Amino acid sequence: MHETVLAVFVVTGLLGLVSLLQPLAARHSIPITVLLAAVGTAIGVAAPLLRTALGRDGAPLAEALAVVDLPAEAFLLLFLPTLLFETALSIDVRRLMDDLAPVLVMAIVAVVLSTGLTGLVLYGIGAGSLVACLLIGAILATTDPAAVVGIFRDIGAPKRLSTLVEGESLLNDAAAIAMFGVLLAVLIGSRAASWSQGLNAFVVGFAGGIAFGYALARGICALIGWLRAGPLVELTLTFVLAYLAYAVGEKVFHVSGVVAVVAAGLTVSAHGRTQVSAETWHSLEQLWKQLGFWANSLIFLLAAMVMAPLLMKFGLRELGWLAAVVAATLVARAVVLFGIIPLLSMAGLSQRIDHAYKTVILWGGLRGAVSLALALAVMETRRVPADAKAMIGIVATSFVLYTLFAHGLTLRPLIGLLGLNRLSPRELAVRNRAMALALADSREHVRAVAEEHDLSHGVRDEAEAQFGGRLGTLEQSLETDCALDEDARMEMGLVTLAGREERLYLGLLDENLVSRQVVQRLRAIAGRLGDGARSAGRDGYLRAAVAALDHAQGFRFAIWASRHLRWHRPLRSLLSQRFEMLMASRVVLRDLVNFAENRLGALLGAAYAGRIVAVLNDRRFAVEQALEALRQQFPDYARGLERGYVGRAALRQELAAYRALHEEGVISQDVLNDLEREVGHRWRVFEMVPTLDLGLDAARLVARVPMFAGLGAASLQNIARHLRPGLAMPDEVLVRRGERGEEMYFVASGEVEVRNPDTLPQPIRLGAGDFFGELALLTRQPRSADVVALTYCQLLVLDRRAVTQLFREDPSLRDHIRAVAQNRMAAERAAE
Ligand code: CMP
Repeated sequence: MHETVLAVFVVTGLLGLVSLLQPLAARHSIPITVLLAAVGTAIGVAAPLLRTALGRDGAPLAEALAVVDLPAEAFLLLFLPTLLFETALSIDVRRLMDDLAPVLVMAIVAVVLSTGLTGLVLYGIGAGSLVACLLIGAILATTDPAAVVGIFRDIGAPKRLSTLVEGESLLNDAAAIAMFGVLLAVLIGSRAASWSQGLNAFVVGFAGGIAFGYALARGICALIGWLRAGPLVELTLTFVLAYLAYAVGEKVFHVSGVVAVVAAGLTVSAHGRTQVSAETWHSLEQLWKQLGFWANSLIFLLAAMVMAPLLMKFGLRELGWLAAVVAATLVARAVVLFGIIPLLSMAGLSQRIDHAYKTVILWGGLRGAVSLALALAVMETRRVPADAKAMIGIVATSFVLYTLFAHGLTLRPLIGLLGLNRLSPRELAVRNRAMALALADSREHVRAVAEEHDLSHGVRDEAEAQFGGRLGTLEQSLETDCALDEDARMEMGLVTLAGREERLYLGLLDENLVSRQVVQRLRAIAGRLGDGARSAGRDGYLRAAVAALDHAQGFRFAIWASRHLRWHRPLRSLLSQRFEMLMASRVVLRDLVNFAENRLGALLGAAYAGRIVAVLNDRRFAVEQALEALRQQFPDYARGLERGYVGRAALRQELAAYRALHEEGVISQDVLNDLEREVGHRWRVFEMVPTLDLGLDAARLVARVPMFAGLGAASLQNIARHLRPGLAMPDEVLVRRGERGEEMYFVASGEVEVRNPDTLPQPIRLGAGDFFGELALLTRQPRSADVVALTYCQLLVLDRRAVTQLFREDPSLRDHIRAVAQNRMAAERAAE
């Protein structure tokens, strides 16, 4: 049979086997990897025996097994990108960032420690050369999170812990594989065995891998956004990304391919969601889950099959090696978990992790597909000395099998022993409340179903009584339960709301009502609201809500660029983004208030839901105010934006109606296509966002200051050349008391406030047509007060030279300004 045909035959056969093993594992609650390894080993041991027994008839079997012998490089290229990209994709990157310090420590320090310790111990007992021993250390430093994460999910462990374990294992795979690459190169003599060179290669490979993976992923995400070619192409591009990151990283840029894949996967996980529709994202997750499942299962089976014959040679000496590795890896992990992580939390770099959970993480450090793949790669590398190959093969296989059987099968009992699978009183209370909420809904539903299906009254009443009875008992216990104190209820409610808020923003994106960039920022804000509530309850949530309305960091630069370089683009785009963000927040907040009023009551109790509604209403008010401030300054733009929003929402509705008619069979596909095309044309009109006019044209602003009315056209033009127009943000401090002043300001629009608690009993408000900052210029004294913008303001800024010129052009203006200044100084003096 042709080799390719045979390969297809073997691979599909193995996948068929996997499909049978998966339900078996689920039925008996054993980790699937344990079963795969067991079956793979059994095949691996039985096949050669069978082949010998069959004699000449065994030739096809020998051929089939030979197919499994892939060259090392091909093996890694085939499986690693899928395995790593899939894990990276499923990680919540924002959460990971919160715990980045412990994750990095566990990933990098633990890998180095584990590799070093395992290598040295093995070398110490004479298992092989130092490099070979270190290589096996690197191979076994990768942990497989599947077992622990699966169990954590089952027992409802805090999400943070799962993220921690997944993040750690992902990054330590990257670190360990990068190290593996360097050590293997040294072992086969393609790189001089100098420690500094090795370290250099490791660091360069790691950092370069991150940079390349990130850049490539951003490029492909942008391409996806630009092409808008639909799910089939988009999914394909993520596949291309994973494999290009690996292959191009390794072969063209000579950086670590695995690190590049991990960086690319994390980047897509963080930025990709807003580049594609909800549907595509769902398919993307499904696709990668499927690919990951295939890769994982195949590696287990193949590796176990290939390595099993080695286990026949397992003797006392090998048992000693295994014991040494078991001890070394456990000690290395324990040092990190119980020694280094607590130091980090003491330094405030990470949250505290419970001892019970640390014990589970220690015991749950199973080794899996990646270790097997790496060991297999060594076996298939021709230039590795035979004795090193044998040692690495046998230690890796026996250790992986040991962790799977000894740790994998005892992890659940251990969790029971530590009491982690029992709900805490607080969790129990939450569970009861969730149940009450669901029961109340089902009782309503029972009635509707009974009516719809014309069921007899008896059956209906019986079902209702059943639900009602359970609900009654639950409600009674809820009345008395005090496990959920006030803080816990607030936290729960607010965290629920933040989660809903994030989903609602994605909904707006899917409906094309809000732009991608804005949704990305809003999602981050919703995330921060949730984190705030989790860490400091209501106060934390409120702090995050206030911060969300601040003018973001970029504004400072944009204002500076606009005022000093007359480069208005950044400011314009930030302001229009802010507009859009506020409008989207307003829509979502309305929904949240509704939700809190109607649903949270049952979960938290009416009084608490009321308090949460109050928090939301405060947020709504603040958003409304911020929006109003913008609207006042840019009324035309606001109208254009709102028109577009309403238009698109209406078109969505129209489209949905057409689709419903098609589903009902009222209109044919052809008619639907035609209508969709029509809607598409009209959509384009509403999609055009008007450009925001900052109104910073000097001549136009000068014309709006009545004081300049006396000037002739030529003088006006002349002055306009010396004036710098600028936009001020609400709360921006324009002039600071006590500082040197070289500029004065005319207010063309908006309002500012002069504040000096020592001399002014009440702050003084100045509006369009007024000026400030003249005193320091005229008297050469430090600024006499703070001047703060109350609203968005258009200002005209004049420096000393321009003022002199202006006074020369128009003596009456000079006299007027001097007179006002005299009055102001008199007022100041009188107050002193
Ligand atoms: P200057 O001292 O340069 O900076 C602070 C500015 O606040 C000052 O110029 C005036 O323009 C303004 N200011 C100070 N006192 C008064 C006042 N009593 N009424 C109005 N404006 C004032």
